[in-house]
Amino acid sequence: MSYRISTLISQEELEKGITRVAEQINEAYAGKELHLICVLKGGVYFTTELSKHISEDIRVSVDFMSVSSYGSSTASSGVVRIVKDLDEPITGKNVLVVEDIVDTGNTLSYLLEMLKDRGPASLKLCTLLDKPSRRTKDVHVDYTAFEVPDKFVVGYGLDYDQHYRNLPYIGVVEFDD
Ligand code: IMP
Ligand code: MG
Repeated sequence: MSYRISTLISQEELEKGITRVAEQINEAYAGKELHLICVLKGGVYFTTELSKHISEDIRVSVDFMSVSSYGSSTASSGVVRIVKDLDEPITGKNVLVVEDIVDTGNTLSYLLEMLKDRGPASLKLCTLLDKPSRRTKDVHVDYTAFEVPDKFVVGYGLDYDQHYRNLPYIGVVEFDD
């Protein structure tokens, strides 16, 4: 199948959106400790950039987790599997999960339930992109940089069959008929 990639959110817009979210986080967590959980692999670009905008009066730590839905198609299959668990316990910590995109909400509703059982002091969710029109599971998103339409997007961590994560912008994959 042939396709093209067109720009949806430019590099400049991404930088502004991420700075805006970081300001909200700086206000909410001022003077506190904050434990960021980066959801691999898609969340890694956003987590890195976001964390660099978090104020130095917030003591930040970062951990990584990898979950995956089975298969490599453009549609989420609904089955979630932990590929890599966290290195550190989260009990008593202010946890902020950092994701690339909330689509159906399946991955995040599973992940947040699981993390809640580990007894964090607080548990919030920050996503680079939100595709609310596709939601099938009720997930509360605390911080969103951008809402996107129901299109398959790539770049800034998001992949199409493991490619295009490194694009510095968000693009839409447009399939030719
Ligand atoms: P969910 O449907 O909210 O569970 O999203 C599952 C995962 O599918 C996300 O974390 C992304 O990794 C991936 N995903 C969903 N929509 C897109 C997209 O438009 N482009 C690339 N990956 C996506
Ligand atoms: Mg993801």
